[in-house]
Amino acid sequence: MIKKIDVVDSLRGTLQLPADKSISHRAAMFAALHEGRSTIENFSEAADPHSTLDCLRKLGVPIHEKEDDQNTIEVEGTGRDGLQRPSEDLNCGNSGTTMRLLSGIIAGSGVPARLTGDVSLSARTMKRIIDPLTAMGAHIEARKNDFAPLNISREGPLKPLKFPLPIPSAQLKSCVLLAGLFGDEPTKVIETLPSRDHTERLLNLPIQKKNEKKIIQSSRENEIPVQTYRIPNDFSAAAFWLVAGAIHPDAEIELKNVGMNPTRTGALDILREMGANIEVLNPRKEGAEPVADLHVRSSDLRPIEITQEIVPNCIDEIPILAIAMLFADGVSRISGAEELRHKETDRLSAVANILIQTGADFEEFKDGLEIRGHADFVPSASVFDSYHDHRIAMSAAVLALMAESPSQINGAECTAISYPSFWDDIAFLTN
Ligand code: S3P
Repeated sequence: MIKKIDVVDSLRGTLQLPADKSISHRAAMFAALHEGRSTIENFSEAADPHSTLDCLRKLGVPIHEKEDDQNTIEVEGTGRDGLQRPSEDLNCGNSGTTMRLLSGIIAGSGVPARLTGDVSLSARTMKRIIDPLTAMGAHIEARKNDFAPLNISREGPLKPLKFPLPIPSAQLKSCVLLAGLFGDEPTKVIETLPSRDHTERLLNLPIQKKNEKKIIQSSRENEIPVQTYRIPNDFSAAAFWLVAGAIHPDAEIELKNVGMNPTRTGALDILREMGANIEVLNPRKEGAEPVADLHVRSSDLRPIEITQEIVPNCIDEIPILAIAMLFADGVSRISGAEELRHKETDRLSAVANILIQTGADFEEFKDGLEIRGHADFVPSASVFDSYHDHRIAMSAAVLALMAESPSQINGAECTAISYPSFWDDIAFLTN
């Protein structure tokens, strides 16, 4: 699909964003592991969380959409011991979270299964989960010992694991903790740099803090709570509009019911430090997660430095933060972000290619970017490629709003992975 992006005089309006993708995956999986019914409101309509629902159904978990509200799902949780051996492959589509978290559940439950994914997911490393799950007693066959399809089974008992996280990845942390939920002895994950904490929050797992480290544990002892709540809207989706609103000279955008989990909102802190005019209104809680409304207006931006410690807190927002940096007067830097090369596409290289097309002044490094921005930067109009990556397509679209003349995004359909109404929302704000 090709989308044409016009240059617009103003960006104004109030948006209801898509539901949080990370929480939707977890809500469905944890509801499946809980014994009994969970009713999840505002479940994401996006493709990735629906890959999770498809896989759970194949594992014998009944899931129904409510007749009068398709975004409310009822999950008849089978409990930890009720999962059934699937008769087909578990197709995780484009979703790394589905594949990595579900692998933990499969390895822990001992139900044998084969997990597959699309071309992009099949090219993403799985070694990071294969190693700890193997140490816990799972047998995993993978292409080149690293890539999907993954054939997972377990013959012997599940062994507990003490696992210092080698990289600050919430998917890896969650995978190991989910496998640990099936063990008689506690599995412990030791985290040094904080990554998103939805798993430990929604499962209410025991946490110890020791010299700046966080030790999270899971075992059969931990009851799996019912997952009946309303999912907040996705902060990662909000980030595109926070940047669009801040860089556009005539903008005022309101975003409702946005998830404000502090392990997710690094981009908000960064944008505010850059001088973005963002108000956080009406803070409250939905279930275990904080939410608020956000209000952004046109802003004068200062340059900023994003270093390794903050990267896990804004990992999905770095492409759109790079766009913001183009419009901040001075030199901004991103370092310690090599992990971006292992996402749906190599996001550092994709952003760099887009910046070249716009005539931006920047340099690409192995682990980041240096961007020399100008408040009055006018990007050259161009035909941008999405690289089949939803966050790259949306970042390019926000950039294109500021270009000298209309631009085009090729492969625009990939926004359905996390934000199916993105193109409608851009049209709404610009009309
Ligand atoms: C996610 C964690 C992050 C993030 C991804 C969703 C999650 O990946 O990039 O979009 O839901 O746990 P990593 O944990 O691999 O960094």
